Amino acid sequence: MTMDTPLAAFDMVAAIRTKRDGGRLDDATIDAIIEGYVAGRVPDYQVSALLMAIVWRGLDAPETLRLTRAMVASGDTLDPGTALGRRIVDKHSTGGVGDKVSLALAPIVAACGVPLGKMSGRGLGHTGGTLDKLESIPGFTVELEEERFVEQVRSLGVAIAGQTGDLVPADKQLYALRDVTGTVESIPLIAASIMSKKLAGGADAIVLDVKVGSGAFMKEIEQARELADEMIAIGTGAGRVVHVLITDMSRPLGRAVGNALEIREVVELLHDRGPDDLRELVFTSAGLLLSLSDLDIDEAEGQRRAREAVSSGAAFTRWREWISAQDGDPDAELELAPIQLVVPVEEGGTITEIDALTVGLAAARLGAGRQTKDDDVDHAVGIELHATVGDTLAAGDPLMTVYARSDEAAQAAAAAVLERTTVTPGAATGHATSVILERRS
Ligand code: URA
Repeated sequence: MTMDTPLAAFDMVAAIRTKRDGGRLDDATIDAIIEGYVAGRVPDYQVSALLMAIVWRGLDAPETLRLTRAMVASGDTLDPGTALGRRIVDKHSTGGVGDKVSLALAPIVAACGVPLGKMSGRGLGHTGGTLDKLESIPGFTVELEEERFVEQVRSLGVAIAGQTGDLVPADKQLYALRDVTGTVESIPLIAASIMSKKLAGGADAIVLDVKVGSGAFMKEIEQARELADEMIAIGTGAGRVVHVLITDMSRPLGRAVGNALEIREVVELLHDRGPDDLRELVFTSAGLLLSLSDLDIDEAEGQRRAREAVSSGAAFTRWREWISAQDGDPDAELELAPIQLVVPVEEGGTITEIDALTVGLAAARLGAGRQTKDDDVDHAVGIELHATVGDTLAAGDPLMTVYARSDEAAQAAAAAVLERTTVTPGAATGHATSVILERRS
């Protein structure tokens, strides 16, 4: 069934029924829905019903592309490539637990001579947000006017801020509505949400980190592949280059989960230390981004330059300059919560599971995340793992430190994480597995 209602006679109830019954929405209808919703003519309750129908019935590729374009058209678009006279690269993650990749990547790529100006989001539920993490640094501002944002990218090569200007207002409204109507988990809706922001931001080449596992929106690898291919199709259709890394989010990325703790881990990485899984993902993403930039180098050379930028200290210097440029104090001691509960494993063996969703939820309950959009986050709380999947521990070795505001909160977080941590008797066998499960382009 095809809806061919002309724009002038747009009927939202008919559109909802069509999708409910498994039909497709034509271009004019999709445009009218998005335009009407942003203008306040189509109410939340009708859009909610349509979103739920989409969750069940899906959107085909042309519908998803049209939705993405209608969302882009709902607001301003940026053209940083023209402003900077450069080919613009960008990176986006679908969200996970302990994912601080962008924070390390931005100064590394900038130190290699490629500008990275990123608009990031806040955490919600069990997933952390880049802006919240940056705000653990005293003084740091994530609110940059468009002019300041572009100027900072021009002069320093790096800026991360909240969405500036009137970029994709349709996504702001739709995302907030999806969040409270159980309609986030839909491949076409996620693809349109992410890609509308990337297209409006003016990136020529985009590296997407699609997370899969308990701590991600995509729980199964087939869903992650579908989302990846959908986003590649949208990007390619709009003349952009898109590379996807499908990465493991069955366990937290790195060892730190919680805002200030994650900033500390980024600083560790910029000192050429830090956990292997995080290093692998940061350097692979950096190599890919540099190879897609106007430096005209291949990925192996990109990775070599990224590693060199870290080992030489250039990336850390750029980090300090970046933090100062956004009014933060790069020398400030980050506050950590007063209760620091060290939690050992009872039995020795090899860790075969630390469930990402459980760690993310435990950190959020400690105050690191929000339960509703208006909550304040507590930057000082979180969970620091001392070992991860594949590591062998003796009985009594520390598994984690919980940073909390009260003993009760610390005990509850520890119990929750222990409940979903599996230690299998015996030493580790086989090789460490890669955090990068697949690539697609
Ligand atoms: N991230 C986004 O920006 N949008 C989604 O829908 C999901 C994750």
